[in-house]
This record gives sequence, C-alpha cells and structure tokens, in this order.
Amino acid sequence: MEKRTILTTSKRGLLEDSFPYRLYQKAKRLGTWNPADIDFSKDQQDWKTLNPVQKQDILRLISQFQAGEEAVTLDLLPLIMAIAKEGRLEEEMFLTTFLYEEAKHTEFFRLVLNALGERGDLSHFHTETYQKIFYEILPTTMERLITDQSPEAIAEASVVYNMFVEGVLAETGYYSFYEALEKSNIMPGLLEGIGNLKKDESRHIGYGTFLLQRLICEHPHLFDFVAAKMAELTPLAIRLNQEGIDGREVSSFGGNPDDVMNFTLKQLSVRMEVLARAKGKKIEEIYRLTDSEIGVL
Ligand code: MN
Ligand code: FE2
Repeated sequence: MEKRTILTTSKRGLLEDSFPYRLYQKAKRLGTWNPADIDFSKDQQDWKTLNPVQKQDILRLISQFQAGEEAVTLDLLPLIMAIAKEGRLEEEMFLTTFLYEEAKHTEFFRLVLNALGERGDLSHFHTETYQKIFYEILPTTMERLITDQSPEAIAEASVVYNMFVEGVLAETGYYSFYEALEKSNIMPGLLEGIGNLKKDESRHIGYGTFLLQRLICEHPHLFDFVAAKMAELTPLAIRLNQEGIDGREVSSFGGNPDDVMNFTLKQLSVRMEVLARAKGKKIEEIYRLTDSEIGVL
C-alpha cells in the first residue's frame, strides 16, 4: 500500500478558499432543511380539486422525480470513492453533504405521495426513454468508477449525473412543477420542497461544473469528449419531454408545452457554454471560481 499523506496537519492544511470547500460551507448552512417539517395539509385539499388529467401529469412528474432521487442516492458512492482515492479532501467533504441531500430528496417525494394518499405502483410512468436513462445509463456509468477511475471515466460520470440528469432533466422538472402549480397557486408544500431541492441541486450541479472544468483544464482533450457525450444524451432529453407532452398543444394546467421543450434545449446549451469557459484557464483560476460564476443559488 502507498504511504498515506495527511493533509490537515501539513503546511497545506485545508484549502479553505477553494471552490469545493466554500460549497461545503454553503451546504452546511442551506442544506439543513427537513422534509419531515413541511406541511402538506393544503396540498391534500388542493389534490382533491384537480381533474384526472391534471392528477396524471403531476403524478408522472412526482414518480419520475421519486425514482430519479432514489437512483442518484444509490448511484453516487462510486464517484465519492474515486475522489477520496485521489486524496481530494475538500471535494470529498462537500460530497458528504451531496449524498445526504439526495437522501432527503428521496424522503421528500415519498412524503408527498404519502400525504396525497397515492400508494399505488407508479412504475408505468417510467417510459422506455426514462428506463434507458435511470435504469441503464446512470447506474452503468457510475458503477464503472468502481474499477476505472481514469479522468475519462470520472468526466463521463459527471456529464451523465451532474450535467444531464441534474442539470437538464431535474431542472426541467422543477420548471414544469412551477409552471403547473405556482401559476394556479396550489400545492404549497410540494412547491416549498421543490424550492429547497432546486437550491440543493444548484450546489450539486455547481460541483459537477467545477469537477469537469478541473478535468478539462488538467486534460484538455476531455472537452471534445464531454461535448460528444452531451450530444449523445440530447435526443433522450427531447424524447422524454415529448412523451410528457404527448402531442398536446395546451398542458393540463393551461401552459404551453413548447416552453418546457425550449427550457430543456436552453439548459443543454448553457451547460456546455459554462464548461467551455475552462478552456485556456489556469488550474488556480478554477479553484478560485465564485458561486455566481458557476450559477450556485
Ligand atoms: Mn436530488
Ligand atoms: Fe443532486
């Protein structure tokens, strides 16, 4: 076994000014909300006033989120292991908050379903496209890190997990929830949780952006690899949206389904624009990145 190096008692200490350490501090302040404290009593009343199509649309969103949160909770560990193996202490400290938050998100959606009295099987909402992403691509890409911790494997994991699943799919899901519920002024408990989730996720996506910028800076050829991976995933995001829209011109809550699709397309391009900024940067500049430069809420 390689001789271990202890960082905190060395001259290096902790990189308190580094982006991942600052993100860790932020997570300790903001990531402490408790799903079990949210009041769903008004949500229960509102739920009864929805028509069957509206209920189906909300249940589809919730069931996809519930399964998605479960999947990201179960699939994150190999990335934490890979980062720990490299001795990146500040990053791992942040990642401890990351996994804890995903666990709370999983808890949150179960509490919502329980409050609405929806205890049936919702797996019929997991379409072929959904299954391809969450039952296949995500677990395979993350599991690969158990045996392969190459920069390519870590970059691929972060593209799939942070950029695509969190940065495109989850962000689109929040947008759809707000479109449906905020405009109709219903289900405040669900929206309160979504607001908290969105902030947590902005830190997760922020970490992924830092990680990919760091990897691109250390191995410039990875930019094209990352761009190709995003391009490969893009049709899946479009198809998942189309399945939700189901050919309708007006959504069940009166919104324009094109807005959701346009939101997804914008997210896809924004993610790549932010990563492109890593090109030509020095590694010290990446460690000095600020929250606002990376879009952390
Ligand atoms: Mn989450
Ligand atoms: Fe997340």
